[in-house]
Amino acid sequence: MKYKIMSADEAASLIQNGQQIAFSGFTPAGATKEIPGAIARRAEAEHAAGRPFKINVVTGASTGDSCDGVLARAGAINYRAPYQSNADLRGGANKNEIKFTDLHLSMTPQYMNYGFMGKFDWAIVEAADVSDNGEILLTTSVGISPTGLKLADKILIELNEYHSKELRGFHDIYETSNPPNRREIPIYSAGDRIGSEVVKVDPQKIAGIVMTNKPDEVKPFKPSDPITEKIGQNVADFLEAEMKAGRIPSTFLPIQSGVGNIANAVLGALGNNPDIPAFSMYSEVLQDSVIDLIEHGRINCASATSLTVTPGKIQEIYSNPKFFRERLVLRPQEISNSPEVARRIGVISINTAIEVDLSGNVNSSHIMGKNLMNGIGGSGDFTRAAYISIYTCPSVAKGGMISAIVPNVSHCDHTEHSVNVVITEYGVADLRCKTPYERAEIIIEKCANPEYKDLLRKFLKEGVMGHTPQTLARAYAFHEAFLSQGDMRKAAL
Ligand code: COA
Repeated sequence: MKYKIMSADEAASLIQNGQQIAFSGFTPAGATKEIPGAIARRAEAEHAAGRPFKINVVTGASTGDSCDGVLARAGAINYRAPYQSNADLRGGANKNEIKFTDLHLSMTPQYMNYGFMGKFDWAIVEAADVSDNGEILLTTSVGISPTGLKLADKILIELNEYHSKELRGFHDIYETSNPPNRREIPIYSAGDRIGSEVVKVDPQKIAGIVMTNKPDEVKPFKPSDPITEKIGQNVADFLEAEMKAGRIPSTFLPIQSGVGNIANAVLGALGNNPDIPAFSMYSEVLQDSVIDLIEHGRINCASATSLTVTPGKIQEIYSNPKFFRERLVLRPQEISNSPEVARRIGVISINTAIEVDLSGNVNSSHIMGKNLMNGIGGSGDFTRAAYISIYTCPSVAKGGMISAIVPNVSHCDHTEHSVNVVITEYGVADLRCKTPYERAEIIIEKCANPEYKDLLRKFLKEGVMGHTPQTLARAYAFHEAFLSQGDMRKAAL
């Protein structure tokens, strides 16, 4: 290999205070695992010597603890976008010690390309292979890597021997041009391939290679509980009924599913429903459950930007690469999450809400209106463009002291105009083409927890009449009650 092999500490010594770096990684999948730790050590040494040292970190989405966690704990992050799920980083963002911008994930590469995010000094990416002529074989995610590799002045690569070179052929690397020269993205079904297997870069830009051998830090799921199972069942029953009513074609439509336990339960229920045919996924993240459903012939093909699977599952894929290469496509997040493609191919989006209000507005990202949880992620990319957009959530949080159905959301990520269906363990609120009053009634009767129904009915009944039921003076009575008395059931309405 013609590139300089170096230690992570040598690589970190090349990074300067104030530089902006595009890192690989979309969830812990494909995230760099050694160089960020070395940058964190360098930051700590600089801080101890009384010198400033912080960098700007842009990634596909969240990463693993050995990227976001170590950098946040070292006080090494000045600016971070577009998503995170790390407790230490979240803490820094909520104290405003880390400047964090919550972005739609499909738009992040566009913003990079348009120059909205400024100059990128480095791209630091994990690879399964790199050739002397600059062909980089990415690992378990694509994310923003092609864009970062193109825009950055210099490149550092973590060549991770844990990942199989059999990954060649899983990726479909395609980049759009900037307006006014952009053409349509020629994807007409979830499995279409339109790009190359590798990212091609100028080999002169590669400053060094750090050898690693580490699995992705993907944690196994908590076992499902009766509430998530019931939500999953409600989603599957709703989609089956839609198909039987002729509103979803009998060949079914591609599914986008968020991450986490509810998403797993939803996929499990869809997979187990004999009346729903084998389907495809046009999604952002693929979890273990998708791999199982592919193996059982229930998912015929899955497109995403990240293969967020546990080490056991990735080895299953590596031991049968031909089978999975024909059924999995990993794309840049601008393409996996493209609203243009999602609208064209009729994606049914299923994401999780923190809270939903009586109009059908959804908060996916902030607790009590101010503290960031994770971010909007790709939920907005899909919701606005979906054939049917679904939001799921348990009806209550924190042992019942918080209702997920509130008079008004404390932060709005997805407006009533984009949200079609809300599903809790109690039922399905189908909001399509309903008026504001009808929506409010359906949400209360179908989705709210029984302990909160009367309070919500009161808010609606005594609301100031208008096109939309609303009483501004009591709009946040639920949140006020939780903040002052620790229980939304004490809301003064
Ligand atoms: N008010 C306050 N806290 C709430 C709450 C509410 N209305 N609803 C949930 N929470 C808390 C839970 O109690 C839990 O707290 P804990 O970490 O202290 O236990 C935490 O929020 C996470 O809730 P949980 O029920 O474990 O949900 P989850 O893991 O399914 O995550 C989201 C739910 C909404 C946070 C998550 O799906 C997300 O970040 N979504 C946005 C991004 C996205 O949609 N990505 C996929 C797009 S492709």
